[in-house]
Amino acid sequence: MQLAALDTLRLVRTDLHEGEHGDWWRVELDGAGAKTGELVGFVQFVRETREVGFGVLASYRGRGFAHRALALLIDELAPASGRLEFVAFTRRDNAAAQAVLRTNGFRLADGPRGDADPSWLRLARSVGPHESAPGPD
Ligand SMILES: CC(C)(COP(=O)(O)OP(=O)(O)OC[C@H]1O[C@@H](n2cnc3c(N)ncnc32)[C@H](O)[C@@H]1OP(=O)(O)O)[C@@H](O)C(=O)NCCC(=O)NCCS
Repeated sequence: MQLAALDTLRLVRTDLHEGEHGDWWRVELDGAGAKTGELVGFVQFVRETREVGFGVLASYRGRGFAHRALALLIDELAPASGRLEFVAFTRRDNAAAQAVLRTNGFRLADGPRGDADPSWLRLARSVGPHESAPGPD
């Protein structure tokens, strides 16, 4: 088990889905082991709506990777000045996604869903310069 490699992640910008649903990054293992560069999942940002999204491959779930990948994305996108409000949408029954968002400082927020589907929740987090670390509870 290459714990060092599994412990560290990096984001690599990809044009895999260019033009579709915003900007995308591969989430890769980034350690000293042979698995460096292996795909763990994807993160996404839609500039127009400031919406973030994330997904982790099934075989890598439950190890804190989504939590860390989202933290890296917020880090990457944090504004140099002023504040930026990130939003995320998740289904009410997606407890894992909600846990990932909450530990990254997102909180339930009012606002338009677009399709006004009550089975979705909207969460938001306002980020300023040097505020990339998860916010306190
Ligand atoms: C949601 C998803 C990204 C989580 O990935 P992950 O790497 O397993 O997430 P992490 O290990 O970082 O954290 C999972 C959190 O959910 C919690 N969790 C997992 N399954 C849960 C469940 N059934 N009920 C409640 N909490 C659950 C874990 O305890 C952990 O919470 P913690 O940080 O408070 O300990 C992954 O399941 C996934 O890709 N799902 C499909 C795509 C998706 O739903 N994306 C989110 C769209 S908004």
